[in-house]
Order: sequence, then C-alpha cells, then structure tokens
Amino acid sequence: MFFFLAPIILGAQELKSPDKELKLNFSLKEGKPQYELSFKGETVIEPSLLGFELKGFSLKEGFEIDSFQNTSRDTIWNPVWGEESEIRNSYNELLVKLIQTESNKKINLRFRLFNDGLGFRYEFPIQQNLKHFVVENELTEFNLTGDHKAFWIPADYDSNEYSYTTSKLSEVDAWKDPTISFGTNEVNRPDQYAVKTPLMLKTDENIYLNIHEAALVDYPVMELHLDKNGFQLESKLAPDVLGNKAYLRTPFRTPWRTIIVSDKAEDILASKLILNLNEPSKIEDESWIKPMKYMGVWWEMQIGKSTWNYTDDLDKKTEDGKLIPNNKHAANTNNVKRYIDFASKNGIEGLLVEGWNIGWEEWLSGQEENFDFVTPYPDFDLQEITAYASQKNVKMIMHNETGASASNYDRKMDTAYAIMNKFEYPAVKTGYVGSVIPRGEHHDGQWMVQHFLRSIKKAADHKVMINIHEAVRPTGLHRTWPNFVSSESARGNEWNAFSTGSAPEHETILPFTRMIGGPMDYTPGIFKLKNYAPGDPDRQMHSTLAKQLALYITIYSPIQMAADLPENYENHMDAFQFIKDVAVDWDHTYILEAEPGDYVSIARKAKGKDEWYVGAITDENERSARIAFDFLPEKKKFVATIYEDGTDANWKNNPESYNIRKVIVDSKSTLKQKLAPGGGVAISIKEATKDEIKSHKRI
Ligand code: NOJ
Ligand code: CA
Repeated sequence: MFFFLAPIILGAQELKSPDKELKLNFSLKEGKPQYELSFKGETVIEPSLLGFELKGFSLKEGFEIDSFQNTSRDTIWNPVWGEESEIRNSYNELLVKLIQTESNKKINLRFRLFNDGLGFRYEFPIQQNLKHFVVENELTEFNLTGDHKAFWIPADYDSNEYSYTTSKLSEVDAWKDPTISFGTNEVNRPDQYAVKTPLMLKTDENIYLNIHEAALVDYPVMELHLDKNGFQLESKLAPDVLGNKAYLRTPFRTPWRTIIVSDKAEDILASKLILNLNEPSKIEDESWIKPMKYMGVWWEMQIGKSTWNYTDDLDKKTEDGKLIPNNKHAANTNNVKRYIDFASKNGIEGLLVEGWNIGWEEWLSGQEENFDFVTPYPDFDLQEITAYASQKNVKMIMHNETGASASNYDRKMDTAYAIMNKFEYPAVKTGYVGSVIPRGEHHDGQWMVQHFLRSIKKAADHKVMINIHEAVRPTGLHRTWPNFVSSESARGNEWNAFSTGSAPEHETILPFTRMIGGPMDYTPGIFKLKNYAPGDPDRQMHSTLAKQLALYITIYSPIQMAADLPENYENHMDAFQFIKDVAVDWDHTYILEAEPGDYVSIARKAKGKDEWYVGAITDENERSARIAFDFLPEKKKFVATIYEDGTDANWKNNPESYNIRKVIVDSKSTLKQKLAPGGGVAISIKEATKDEIKSHKRI
C-alpha cells in the first residue's frame, strides 16, 4: 500500500478542463507549492508560487502533500435575474491537502478548472495549531509569459473611478499621469506598480486573459503588484489602519483567485466562471426581487443645475428659527411629482430621489454622525410623495449617502430600513463618497468588505434591493445575494456631468474589466449631450445619442436608469421609445463582436418574451458593425427598429444626430451598420405583422 501511494503523492498533479483545452499543473518545488496553467498547449501562467506570510510565521515553504482528491461537477442553475436564465456549471476539481512538516500546520488548495478558466482558493481547515491568525501578506503569484497589453487602473484602496490606461505591463506606472488621479492621497496609493483587478490582458499571440477574484467575503480586496519587468504579478491585499491585511479564524476559505482564458475576446464577456464560483442564493423567498428601469431626481444635481442640500448656510436662520432655503434644492415635493408624472406616463417603474434627507450641507466634512437617514428636508413631504407615487404606480427608490461613515450607517441601518419598509420603498441606493470612518480603514479593506456584506444582508432581511455606489468592485456575490442588484465601483456616466469625463473608448473597456465581477449602475440614457451643465458650457458627453441607447444592452444591469431630465427626453420621444421598450432581464445573451478598447456588440433575448435587443458601440473611431441575426429563431420574420447614428453624427461636434428606421429581418439576415466616431446603434426586434412585412424592406 505504502509503495503504491508514495509516487502519486510526491509527483506533480495535472488537471484538465472538461474540454481538455486548459491544463493545470500543481507541484511542490522544494517544499513550496506552485501552479502552472496552459491553454491549447501553450503556457499562459508560468510556474507561480502560492502561500502566506502570517503574523509570527509563514506558510510558504516546508510543505509536504498530505493527499490529493479529484472531483468533477456538471450542473445547471437558474439565477433570479441575469444575462442568461440558465447557467451551466461544469468543472474538474483538484483538492490538495498540504502539511507544513515542522509546524504541523495544514492548508488546502482547491483548484477548479472550467472550459473558460481557472479558479483556486486557499482553505484553512480547523486544526489545533492554527486557530486565530493575522494575514500580513498573501503570496499568490501570476507569472505571465510576456509583456502583455494591459487595460488597467491604479490600485487605489479607496476608489475604482479611474479611466483605463492601455499599455504594456512593463509601462505601468500608476501615478505618473497626474490627470488619472483625483483627490486621493499618498495613503491610498502607496504603490506605483500596482493595478486593480479585474485586469484584462492580451498577449502578442492574441490570447485574452482576465485576472480577478470571486466570492470576496471577510477578506480584503486583491490588487496586483507588478515586478520590474511587469511580467510577474503578485497579490497585494488592501491593508487596514495598522497595515495588517486580514484577521481570520479557522475554518476559513479565501476568495477564489480567477484567470479567465480564451483566444476570443467575445468568450471573455460570455464567461460565467465568476458566478459559478460563488455560493448559491441564500435568499429563500426571492419573489420580491424584480429587475426594473428607473429615473432619478439626480442628473440635475450632477450637472450643477440644482443641489442636494437645502440651504447654503446652516448657521443662518429665520426669526422663527427655520433654515433659509437656497431655492435650488431638487428634492422638493413639486419637482419630485414632476418626475413621477413623467415616469408614470412612460412606464418607467422606479424613481430615485437624492438629497431628500438632512445632512447634505456637511456631507464631506468628515463628521461621523452627519446623516440619520430618516429625517426629510422641510420641502420634501414623504407622506404626500409616497401616496402620489403609489397612485401613479411608480416605486420610490431610497437614497442613503453615508459619506463613507460606515460605522454611523452600521448603527442606523435598522431605522433606515424600517422607514423603507414603512413607506414601501422596494430598493435603496447607498453611497460611500469620501474617506472611510472608522478612520484609517479603506473601501477595499477587510473591514469595509464585511460592512458592505452586512448592508446587503440587512437589506435582504427587509426585502429591499440594494445598489451600492463607491463599493468594493463586485466578485459575483449577487449570485448568493440576488437582492444586491447593482453597484457602481467604476467610473460611471456621471463623470461626464461634473468633470471632463471619460473618453469614448471607456465603455468598450468596462465590460472586460469592472463588469467581469457583476452588474454596474452606469446610468446611461443621456440625450442632451452638449451644453447641459449651466456652470460650464464646454462640458460634453463623449458619446452620440444612439450610443447612449446601445449602453442599455452593452452594460448589463438588472436595474437600469433613464438618467437624463424629463425635459431633455421630451425633445426626443421617438428615441426614448427604445428606453421604454428595452428589457432588463434576459433569457439569453449573444456576444456578437468585441475587442477591449475598440468595440462591443451584444444581442439579448428578453426573459420570457419573443423580443430581442441589440446594442453595438465603438470607441472614437467610426466603425462598420456586422450584426448577424442568427440568434433569432428560424423561419420567422421580425421587424427590427434601428436607432442609428445620423450620417453626419459624431460624438464631438454632432452627437444628437440620429435616425430611426425599420427593416424586416430573419435568422439569415446580416446588417452592416455604420457607427459614428464615439457612436453606436440600438435595435429592438419583435415578430413582424403581415402589414409590416409588406411595408418594410427585408435585409
Ligand atoms: C456619488 C454617486 O456615484 C452619485 O451617484 C451620487 O449622486 C453622489 N455620490 C451623492 O450621493
Ligand atoms: Ca481604441
């Protein structure tokens, strides 16, 4: 028996993906655990070490293999909402149990190999010699095969709201360009050679690699530190105020480290690996979780037309002790009713109102107790608005800006959620602008990761859907907590309102980076693309109007905002028809064409309906998108309504030029569609009537 087992235990272990295209090798190199990954016979990850530096001792060498275990799984599950109504979870797994001989400490490594990539995690089993411990460093390496092209943002521990830089890995110098940093300080950006995940890479041999993590729970965010040549990446965990990374207790499982691999960019977007590595839903009754479109008393503050705050001076009062209004406060009952009217008339289900509660005058002053989340400003009549919205069939969406005082929010969540339940708000948007309180903690640290999950669970207890801004970037946790419907955690459309904005290529990179972890509340649908900011006539969107429509498809979220002002929509109700029609929940998604930094074209089938929607976008370059309609059922004719860039459209000088036309298509049709510089196209598809077949051209 001993002789039979010994060679297996000492030898390297190989694991193959179900389709055998990906191959993982695990071995011990002089007692140090390491892995290696190849795709179609070519190495994509060179031997890379695994291990930990813990307070007082290290778990990186001196190991022996205790045992190996191989398992496989092939199942199908159904998310409550999503890009697909059915998801296949098929992988081969290798569990390696290691023992550090001298200390007698145990650690397990679990590798899961899917057709679309690798996931692996560390597990600390219950053991006598290891009960509570502090992580000083995680030593996971990702040793790449060359100086790949990278789409990256700096590893700021407090923000993901950067424009992406495209460069060779060796050229990463996170803080070199002063225009890419904003208001952060040395504390947030100690490492000029560190980038955030999801990190999108493309090799010279046209292999696409995406490195990220799945199921980030009770642990800090993994950023990636690059060595001098840029090829060797090492995990770098966000620290706490003492410089420690994580406080753990056995049994513990780290988040999964993920590498999605393909020779087709489209497959990176189609990957469901991150979701598959997360735990199934923990919410038993999910019937109250419903995707929706919404508007907001919001963009008008973003562009500086009105304010969140009620007064300009908290210290000045009238003779009878009342605050003096600045007359620019957006969240007043009449204005809110105006939005409710528009939403109701146009079938938009939800309305977010920001600036409804006291505290905004001092929200960036670093006061721990600033917001109470329950007291409205004097001109916001909560009862009246609730009654009006309900009569008009519009659901109100709560807003809780915490000013990043998470400890304050922790203490007040119960009262905050009680009022949401009392006034029947089905959803809340939370926000964490500024430096975190407890002071010295970071948005990406273990403490805040735990806080965000507490808030998601609290929302679930109260049957409220939650959309978190300035959150940790997502890692697929919405599978486990489907009430966590969206988050921001990237540079959203709003940056075009209050800053010089984002380049036209931004939305072609987001799906390959931030969106790999989960849906984004990008807030598309801006129709007034120039001259919208009263204080700055030069400000403009970096997009055509048709592209704003396409974003409803190319940037996935089960809650989608129609972000512009009602009066700006009134001028283009023919184009607004697309926003009215477009679905927010899907049976199937088809990634038609994609290349990070250049273009993305996606088609989706609406959930439970014979309706399809297509969105295609380009960067600053004009493009001819090729849209093949072979995703449609055969032998039927459909009418496609095409919302396209005008022939003279371009994002810079003529963004609002668009044209709407109808054509007849079937599963054999192909459309060659011109996209303007910074432009796009949005298409809605329904079964055609006989009259439509007669009156429109077939393509
Ligand atoms: C930043 C959020 O991203 C934005 O949507 C919100 O309006 C402001 N914070 C105020 O909460
Ligand atoms: Ca480009």
